[in-house]
Amino acid sequence: MDSSITHVLVPGTFDPITYGHLDVVRRARRLCPRVTVAVAASLGKNGVGTTFSLDERVALAREALEGLDGVEVLPFTGLLVDFAREVGAGAVVKGLRAMTDFEYELQQADLNYRLDASLESIFVMSSPEFGYLSSSAVRQIASCGGDVELFVPACVAQALKERFK
Ligand code: PNS
Repeated sequence: MDSSITHVLVPGTFDPITYGHLDVVRRARRLCPRVTVAVAASLGKNGVGTTFSLDERVALAREALEGLDGVEVLPFTGLLVDFAREVGAGAVVKGLRAMTDFEYELQQADLNYRLDASLESIFVMSSPEFGYLSSSAVRQIASCGGDVELFVPACVAQALKERFK
């Protein structure tokens, strides 16, 4: 039998990190002693450029996750399976909100499996209060001058305010 998994990745674009992401990271940490939040340099699922640069997304995620024992935030470029191998992570943990996530995440998990069958994909069901929370919705609200404090940590809300002023 393969050795058990002690290090997992929570990957994403995190443009920007939301309370929904923090929920997934906390739950991944309950399952595993070491969690690396992997911030992708590549484009997100909508295929367009990001609002925040890679450095900004990493800095915001680090600030939002400060003090969470066993959790670190690292940027990555290229394939997720290569990054997992590089840092010695045995699984990817992602959150599922609605059926639409399932279709997309199943495709990602299937592709990752074909690229490296030793990398597990683990899914946690989003807490109901975050079921319809997304970075794109948060960006849209912020760009229209709306209050996003309900959805993101204060440091992220501030960064959004400055980006869209
Ligand atoms: O925030 P997202 O859009 O759900 O994150 C998607 C992400 C970054 C995890 C995914 O696009 C990814 O793994 N990108 C790295 C490139 C890669 O490995 N692609 C092949 C698997 S689909």
